[in-house]
Order: sequence, then C-alpha cells, then structure tokens
Amino acid sequence: MIMNAPDQNERFRLSDQYQSLKASVHASLISQIEERNLDIYSWTADKVERFALDQVRRVVTDQRLPINQREIEVLAHDARNELLGFGPIQHLIEDDDVSDIVVNGPYSVFVERAGRLSAVPVRFNNDAHVIRVIQRILAPLGRRLDESTPMVDARLPDGSRVNAIIPPIALDGPCLSIRKFRKNPLSADDLLKLGSITQNELDYLYKRVSMRTNLIIVGGTGSGKTTFLNLLSQWVPDNERIVTIEDAAELRLRHPHVVRLETRPPNLEGERAITARDLVRNALRMRPDRIIVGEVRGDEVLDMLQAMNTGHDGSMTTLHANNVRDAISRLELLAGFAGYNGNEATLHGQIGAAIQLLVQVSRLSNGQRRVMSITEVLGMQGRELLMRDVFRYDPDADRHLDLRAAA
Ligand SMILES: Nc1ncnc2c1ncn2[C@@H]1O[C@H](COP(=O)(O)OP(=O)(O)O)[C@@H](O)[C@H]1O
Ligand SMILES: [Mg+2]
Repeated sequence: MIMNAPDQNERFRLSDQYQSLKASVHASLISQIEERNLDIYSWTADKVERFALDQVRRVVTDQRLPINQREIEVLAHDARNELLGFGPIQHLIEDDDVSDIVVNGPYSVFVERAGRLSAVPVRFNNDAHVIRVIQRILAPLGRRLDESTPMVDARLPDGSRVNAIIPPIALDGPCLSIRKFRKNPLSADDLLKLGSITQNELDYLYKRVSMRTNLIIVGGTGSGKTTFLNLLSQWVPDNERIVTIEDAAELRLRHPHVVRLETRPPNLEGERAITARDLVRNALRMRPDRIIVGEVRGDEVLDMLQAMNTGHDGSMTTLHANNVRDAISRLELLAGFAGYNGNEATLHGQIGAAIQLLVQVSRLSNGQRRVMSITEVLGMQGRELLMRDVFRYDPDADRHLDLRAAA
C-alpha cells in the first residue's frame, strides 16, 4: 500500500506535524488496547493494520486534524509498524535491497544498499523510542539491555546480526547496527556480474578447492570474506564430511554432509563459554574431511594450523587483515597470544606448511568488492615464507592480471 509518491510520503514523515500526530495516535492506540484488553499479538498483520486505520481516522475526526487520505494511510501504516514491528526502521528491515541498517541515536539513520552507505530520512522521537525498538528486537532472544548491560551482540532467528549499545556508554544516544542476513547468498554468477572476480579466477579456485588446498580468505570488515568462503565451501565434493565452526552461523552450505557448530558466549556469571578452540579440538574427533572455521581471531589459530597440517586438507577459514603480508603477521601474533612457544622460523614453517593459498578480498571506495589477489605459498626461503601471486587486480589499469604464465 501507499507505495506511490514516496517523496511526498517522506516529506510528510519528516514534518513536525507528523511527529506530533504520530505521538498522539500512538498514545490513543495504546490506551484503546489497554482499555479493551486487546491481544493484538495474536492478530494477523492485516487486522492490526485495519485497527490502526480505524483508530487514526477516529483521532483525525475527533481532533479535526487537517490531513488528507494519503497522510492518514501513511500514519496508519506507521502506527501498525509501531505496534507490531520495529517502528521507524520496520520498512528498512523488510527491504531486501538493504543489507545493513545503522542507527546513531534517534535522528541519524543510515542504510547500506549495493555496498553503499547513505543517510535515510528516518527518525525516532527520542532516545527512549530507540531503546524501545531495540528492546523489542532483543525480547524474543531473551537478551537484556539496560544500564548494567549496556551493550548486546545477538543473532536474530533469520541469521541477521544485531549490535546495540546505549548510554551511558554510548555518549550520543542509543546505537543499533543490524547486518541483515542475505536470504540467498551471492552465487558465482552474481560475483562475476558484480565484477568481484573473473571467470579465470573462479575456475582456478574451483580447481584448488577440488584438490583440497588449504586456504584462507583475507580482508577487512565487510569486504566479502564470508560470502567467498560460502561460495568456495559449496564446491567441496558431496562425499566429503565437513564440520563448520562459527561464532554466529552465517554460512549456508548446500552440502549433504555438514555438521554445523557454533561457539557460545559466557553466561552472566562469565562462565561456561564454549570457544572456537574448544570446537576445533572437538571437531578433530568427529572424523571430518575438512574443517571450515568462519573466522580465525583467537587461540583457535594453533589448532586450526595443526588440523591443516594433519590430514584435514582442504580446510578453509577467513582472517581479518588488509593484505597478505599483514595476514601472515596476524597469524603469528594470534599464535603468540595462544601460547605458541617455538621460534619465529618454526612458526613460519608451520604456517607455510598449513596454508597453501591466500585469497585477498577488498571493499573498494565505490562499495564494490573485489578479489585483489590470489597468492600461493611456495614454502620457506631461509626463515621467510616464499609466496607468489597467481592473480592480481591492478587498480590503475582496472584489470585482473593472470600471472600463471609468468611463473
Ligand atoms: N562481491 C560482493 N559484492 C557486493 N556485495 C557483497 C559482496 N560480497 C559480500 N557482499 C555484501 O557485503 C556484506 C558483507 O559481506 P560478508 O561476506 O559478510 O563480509 P565479511 O565476512 O568480510 O565481513 C554483506 O551484506 C554481503 O551481502
Ligand atoms: Mg565475515
């Protein structure tokens, strides 16, 4: 409904008149519901919408408000969203083109569409309004958010990730970030069309996955690491058994033989956490052919390297780093934190023996995601790792270079 004239509707939504109308409509709806003891949560969305429309018409007539039919419908629709869903951001949550929603206090809302972040004309009434919406998102998950627990990281039933942080920790009002879960992960064809990868690179990676190459996908936040890991995991032959380990189960493998494990944060007393390291160790006892770790970021790095070195060929993971060299340094750093006590050369040797291929992805300033390089680990040269780019993206020429012939 009311999808025509979006500009007019947005302008109306932003007017002060609308804000005060909405507040009084909302108050009247709430008092109706309470007086008549209506159980609107058992109603269908349509029924709630009709109820909202009736109530809005009544308020408008009673108060002789100067607004037209279209504006009444906008108000009713928003009132329904207030009652049932997530208020001013409901339509953003429903919009499949929106991949991320970020709320920085009541008056600043951004969304990401097709890789680009932009401000949207959406606002909340005040801090309390934002907090109410956050509470409504968290309530079914059994998670709390208040002054004593002012930040929450959670996963919605549909796989979307939610992070909320409120005052007094957040100084400029309550903040909410939602990274929506894509219902259909990007396919090889999608990535080709988006210019994220070339056919040659795809063919090469396909071959390496079939050959059970141990590989690691490297990139910054939101660069598309998990998306690529998901794609590569699809190519694991059906007769191989996969165990996946993630902090929040994001991977969607269409594979007949996969066991999915998810870490558990500590409870309120700070106990009973189940870490990625626990899970990698356990996975090794589950007779996996390959282990796929969503992201290495802690002491599981040592167990992962060991798994890769001991017969679980074709294992894959992602790592947060800006380039291939940084990735190696970060692996060393994580191994150090994890209590690795050999010398640097031995660690290089272990890393070099475990990891055979690094795929570096990047989010460019125009929002596009690109495979920047595909790099082979050849072995050790003295104390250093010897690596060679097989493919490289040249940003100046906007060209993907195939370096296989050069070798
Ligand atoms: N190649 C791509 N082109 C456009 N958008 C992409 C691409 N890969 C991923 N995305 C989108 O970018 C966001 C982050 O992707 P994700 O794979 O989770 O990144 P990371 O794991 O590096 O944080 C998601 O919304 C995803 O749909
Ligand atoms: Mg990721």
